[in-house]
Amino acid sequence: MLRLENLVKTYKTGDQALKSLKLEVPEGQVVALIGPSGAGKSTLIRCINRLVEPTSGKVYLDDVELTGLSAAALRRERRRMGMIFQEYALVERLTVMENVLSGRLGYVGFWRSFLRRFPQTDVDEAFRLLDRVGLAHMADKRADELSGGQRQRVGICRALIQNPALLLVDEPTASLDPKTSRQIMRLICELCKERGLAAIINIHDVALAQMFVQRVIGLRFGAIEFDGSPEGLSPDVLTTIYGEEDWEATIEEADEEEVEAAE
Ligand SMILES: Nc1ncnc2c1ncn2[C@@H]1O[C@H](COP(=O)(O)OP(=O)(O)OP(=O)(O)O)[C@@H](O)[C@H]1O
Ligand SMILES: [Mg+2]
Repeated sequence: MLRLENLVKTYKTGDQALKSLKLEVPEGQVVALIGPSGAGKSTLIRCINRLVEPTSGKVYLDDVELTGLSAAALRRERRRMGMIFQEYALVERLTVMENVLSGRLGYVGFWRSFLRRFPQTDVDEAFRLLDRVGLAHMADKRADELSGGQRQRVGICRALIQNPALLLVDEPTASLDPKTSRQIMRLICELCKERGLAAIINIHDVALAQMFVQRVIGLRFGAIEFDGSPEGLSPDVLTTIYGEEDWEATIEEADEEEVEAAE
């Protein structure tokens, strides 16, 4: 269970990115985080693993207060949080396999990882994961030879090989075409279900969020404006989160894509 208590982030510039946020995400729940640009979605995700240091408030993962940890203890706890980014963040000159195994760096000792000698059990697990996402045949390819969708699959494997309790996902489909976006979103949600993993997925495509998750949180100006099931995202609610727009069209689009996805 992830719990945020009165989380505040004010950047040095004076930008109040998060205003006393309260949130609980139980084990195994996948949450989509939506909201306009600048709403604080990335800040929220980054405050959880303290890539961004919260100004005040508390973050708990199970019984551990992450906000109170020393650097060394935080390093250990970060193993329990897999992170998937929009920009993939792969090491270009390394192979697919090496990129996946780099997810084990938090576990393997420095010298062993420096020499890239990973235990066979890690290599086996990396193969299993690559197979699961349909990339087993590409294990030896260099990361810079992959398509965007393939790169994101590698990023997913790298996060999962950490064996995390929580996935933090920041715009996983922002650089992908619509069909690949759907495939990646479906893959992430399926894997969470298979593994009983909780996840927060920051996604700007409302229709895509509605298709795959049971709970949506709408953020605006650093505060939660909506927290509920995707069916509750009426045009009125979307207007509160995003401001004026023709939301009927977006909702129709979600319905159409659902039909398409089911086919
Ligand atoms: N490093 C920073 N220094 C100062 N202000 C920042 C920093 N990062 C973000 N902000 C500000 O904090 C607010 C929230 O930004 P954040 O990146 O979390 O939004 P977001 O919801 O992820 O937006 P987007 O959809 O565009 O990615 C914005 O007003 C932004 O300008
Ligand atoms: Mg962002």
